[in-house]
Amino acid sequence: MKETLKILLSHVSVRQFTDKKISKDDEMLIVSTAQRSSTSSNRQAYSIIGIRNKQKKEKLAKLSGGQQHVVDSSLFLVFCADLYRLEQINKKKKYETHSGYTELFIIATVDAALVAERALITAQTLGMGGVMVGGIRNNPEEVGQLLKLPNLVYPVMGMSLGYPLKESKLKPRLDINAIYHREEYSDVEYPKYISEYDKTIQELGHLKGREQLVEKYPKFDGLYSWSEHTARRHAEIVRPHMKSYLQSKGFMKD
Ligand SMILES: Cc1cc2nc3c(=O)[nH]c(=O)nc-3n(C[C@H](O)[C@H](O)[C@H](O)COP(=O)(O)O)c2cc1C
Repeated sequence: MKETLKILLSHVSVRQFTDKKISKDDEMLIVSTAQRSSTSSNRQAYSIIGIRNKQKKEKLAKLSGGQQHVVDSSLFLVFCADLYRLEQINKKKKYETHSGYTELFIIATVDAALVAERALITAQTLGMGGVMVGGIRNNPEEVGQLLKLPNLVYPVMGMSLGYPLKESKLKPRLDINAIYHREEYSDVEYPKYISEYDKTIQELGHLKGREQLVEKYPKFDGLYSWSEHTARRHAEIVRPHMKSYLQSKGFMKD
């Protein structure tokens, strides 16, 4: 199999790192390959902030919900949606701007996500490992202050990168037919795919000891697997502050 395919098919998030540092050359290789990502209308509506400073990583780890791998990473990257640079161009030319429209928010967010995925693939190709960090949006205001993010720039996700301490177990996915629909969308087989996946995850013990919100579901006595775990998480409101935060940063009109 081609090397690239092997790397793509063996993706696994890595949260424990050795002390080995990522070289400056490899750091720039990660960023420059990421920069070759497709970008909507070549707007390049994103920025990446690279952090090696220990104190800063400690603060970011705390702001991301106490994620130790942020501190332990050799390099922590923050991928931001960025409409600020584009707004500056328009201001200089005295043209109108419409940054508060949802579509521009989507464009900038998708740009940042595409770049992030490529950065991770490059790191994996170079023998490193890493994990994306949505936890960076737990306290986006404080993260923004720490990183001096201007208006119209928000952190979409972080990424801890380093050399893996140990081999991590591959996490299986749903049956491919659950996510790939030919010609039209179909949910007919969802119950089958979900119960099969629950069995797989159960057998591999991926969620052992990771039961969510046990006190909220005292009567539950079924199989605790992916669907139960995910349903419990999906029943919670995630980061309710994001809408007002994005409004305050100029991304959403109302
Ligand atoms: C946008 C995004 C945000 C994520 N945020 C976190 C995070 O804050 N902390 C963490 O440990 N993992 C995070 N992850 C990693 C996922 O938990 C992980 O990809 C998923 O469980 C599948 O496991 P795998 O990547 O090992 O296959 C995030 C993944 C994505 C795509």
